[in-house]
Amino acid sequence: MKKELMEAARKGRKNSYAPYSEHQVGAAVLTSSGKIYSSGNIENCCYALTICAERGALYHAIAAGEHHFKALAVTNGENDLVVPCGVCRQVLWELAGDIQILLFNKKNKYRTVSLSTLYPQPYKKKSKKRLYKHRRNIP
Ligand code: THU
Repeated sequence: MKKELMEAARKGRKNSYAPYSEHQVGAAVLTSSGKIYSSGNIENCCYALTICAERGALYHAIAAGEHHFKALAVTNGENDLVVPCGVCRQVLWELAGDIQILLFNKKNKYRTVSLSTLYPQPYKKKSKKRLYKHRRNIP
């Protein structure tokens, strides 16, 4: 499954739109049922509207009705490993919980790290319902 997830992240990167930074990133998320959703980063000339590959992949999955996730792979196709930015860490925590993050480079060298290691003190709200519970309550 690791191979497929990495392949999907590479494909996500091919679909990135990063004409401003020219930093093409790709990510893919693996659901608990074994499905994979990917995205590249999608930039905007109003820079703040840019969406990272990691959030793109997760939102892609959520928009398709998924709610349980196992892992996310991310690459920028370079030698150095790219790690999810702070914004993505917060979003991943909210919607995917403590998943495994697989960081890999252009030679397929990889490192896995849990989200809780990358982001040990997420902002949480006490009233928060997890995604699945929240959806069950929608008539
Ligand atoms: N970017 C990602 O897509 N993921 C990351 O983990 C880091 C940064 C994107 C955002 C922007 O389009 C470009 O990389 C340069 O920061």
